Amino acid sequence: MIISRVRGIALAMWPLSLALLAGASWAQDPLLARNLAATCANCHGTAGVAKGEMKTLAGRKEDELLKLLADYRSGAQPATIMHQIAKGYTDEQLKLVVKHFAALPAKP
Ligand code: HEC
Repeated sequence: MIISRVRGIALAMWPLSLALLAGASWAQDPLLARNLAATCANCHGTAGVAKGEMKTLAGRKEDELLKLLADYRSGAQPATIMHQIAKGYTDEQLKLVVKHFAALPAKP
């Protein structure tokens, strides 16, 4: 009786421990920031240096970029597309990607 209950709890916890494991390895992936930043490259240029009218992300302050993204997400800053894009990333992902761009040179 007790054993089957313990087994039930262990089984119920199994997906949770898997999720925790996945989360831990995810946070340690050294290429993650770069891979996330690559999803912005189509529009904001290679390594965050934009051409033409598009805004460059490279070499900018982390705080400034995070604020812009938070405002797109909340709708405080109207946008044609960034309000949708900003919602597609977690807070952790946005922090990582912004840190990555801030560390890159503003000019190639
Ligand atoms: C499909 C094209 C596209 C992609 C992909 C894209 N952006 Fe944007 N981004 C824009 C456009 C267009 C704007 C101008 C605001 C608007 O109209 O949506 C913008 C504006 C911004 C701004 C504000 C810049 C400023 O100085 O005002 C930031 C910050 C930003 N994007 C970050 C990102 C990040 C980070 C990613 C990747 C996670 C990304 N964007 C992916 C098109 C894109």
